[in-house]
Amino acid sequence: MIASGRRVSREWLALREPADAAARAVELVERLARRPRWIIHDLGCGTGAMGRWLAPLLRGPQHWILHDRDPDLLEAALALPPGPAADGAAVTVEARRSDITRLRAGDLAGCTLITASALLDLLTEEELDGLIAACAGAGCPVLLTLSVVGQVTMAPADPLDRRVAAAFDAHQRRVTDGGRLLGPDAVARAMQQFARLGFDVLVRPTPWRLGVAEARLAAEWFAGWFGAAGEQDVELAAEAGLYPQRRLAQAASGRLNVTVGHADLLVSPRPESVRLEPRRERVAQQHHVADLANLGECRPPAGVPGEAAVAHEPGGAGVAHEERGDDQLQLVG
Ligand SMILES: C[S@@+](CC[C@H](N)C(=O)[O-])C[C@H]1O[C@@H](n2cnc3c(N)ncnc32)[C@H](O)[C@@H]1O
Repeated sequence: MIASGRRVSREWLALREPADAAARAVELVERLARRPRWIIHDLGCGTGAMGRWLAPLLRGPQHWILHDRDPDLLEAALALPPGPAADGAAVTVEARRSDITRLRAGDLAGCTLITASALLDLLTEEELDGLIAACAGAGCPVLLTLSVVGQVTMAPADPLDRRVAAAFDAHQRRVTDGGRLLGPDAVARAMQQFARLGFDVLVRPTPWRLGVAEARLAAEWFAGWFGAAGEQDVELAAEAGLYPQRRLAQAASGRLNVTVGHADLLVSPRPESVRLEPRRERVAQQHHVADLANLGECRPPAGVPGEAAVAHEPGGAGVAHEERGDDQLQLVG
């Protein structure tokens, strides 16, 4: 069965593709160990933008397995396959219509990299945990890019921006038939779960910075952002007066600078030699790894509600890995 959910249009994905490509953290890709041949599963591939961005950054032959529940997007992805590898090696692609929340480790067997982009925040906690378990079972690195972190800033600022942002975040965390979506909490949850399973996690802020050159995207983004906020806060539309028209006109004419916070994660199996000992593993399980409140601004990360955030590191972005101390899991930027 393919899970239901809001459909994402080809047009929206095409419009955001250049901004996504500019935002993703190339530095995390450079940390991937070389492989003689890549087998890459891209989860929630949409029209295949991740492959078009990443394939030319990797060396060696690659085979991409593109997963999405939307057959129309898979068709578009096959029509626009990624270019050759960095060294000119061939890149091949296949598409699989699948519900990525039902994947098991066996479905990913033999892969050398798992990727996803703009996906995590669309999942419930249960779905994300299941996906993480499948990825962990596959035992390869996982590159998770462009998850929203609930940070939007606009210049010039408007007094209503905060209310709209709060309503949008609440909309992202709304309860669906499948449960409550994680929205901006997805990155913290993913970091926590991967660390709990003994993986190293690197996180980098990867905001969109939209200005005059991205005016069309900024206007479309604003319309979607305000629309979702209005679904959540039903009085907003009536009380906002001319705010949406004013902001939309500013965005469309390039007079609005918009920063939309995202984060990229690189998750790596820890080498056998530095696996946590049992006692330390217990400690890692007790503590949340990051405070993500200001990730978009590259400040230290916020606790997951109900859990103590013990490991803070100035600079925010960091590696969840075993630090020298005996019972602290630290983030190191
Ligand atoms: C925001 S789009 C991102 C697409 C693409 N990764 C990109 O960066 O351009 C999210 C994608 O995830 C897909 N998706 C969401 N939930 C899914 C699920 N449970 N199973 C398979 N695909 C899913 C959607 O169809 C959509 O293509």
